[in-house]
Amino acid sequence: MSQNIFLIGFMGAGKSTVARELRDHYGMRLIEMDEQIEAEEGRPISQIFAESGEAYFRTLETQLLLSLEHESNTVVSCGGGVPLREENVAAMRLSGTIVYLCAAPETIYERVKDFHTRPLLEGNMNVEYIKNLMAQRIPKYQSAADITVTADGSDVRAVCEEILRNVLHTHSRID
Ligand code: S3P
Repeated sequence: MSQNIFLIGFMGAGKSTVARELRDHYGMRLIEMDEQIEAEEGRPISQIFAESGEAYFRTLETQLLLSLEHESNTVVSCGGGVPLREENVAAMRLSGTIVYLCAAPETIYERVKDFHTRPLLEGNMNVEYIKNLMAQRIPKYQSAADITVTADGSDVRAVCEEILRNVLHTHSRID
């Protein structure tokens, strides 16, 4: 595939799992934004937030996205906050299709509850908090998305097939 796929959605929606599947079974290159930022900074996300603040982290996200303009055949697993900045959405549009993976707050909670790697959920690990934060973000996810795919309960392979079918269809309409 010449184009890139940007997976957006709330923490725990399954972006990383789907991205790995697209790499392993569909031959795409994978960029996991959080991992790349951690590697470049030499410290985990939680430490970046604690030492340098969220705004600093958000700028690193934007810089990373801008650097991807010349990539192709790459799936980018975005941090959950990426679509909050308009400039990030514009950068993604330049080089790929934006796929919103959505899942219910209860599903998200089950997936994230045992991890302590997400500073926004530390001390807020409950369905109510997830529901509220998700409600604030859904308009951003929806307006950024070229394609929306539901990812709760579905088998990861089926999610990938739905994404690829939709991406190819979207392309044939644009081309
Ligand atoms: C965040 C999501 C996280 C990570 C950071 C902030 C967010 O990524 O970028 O903790 O604001 O939703 P995942 O969506 O991969 O968990």
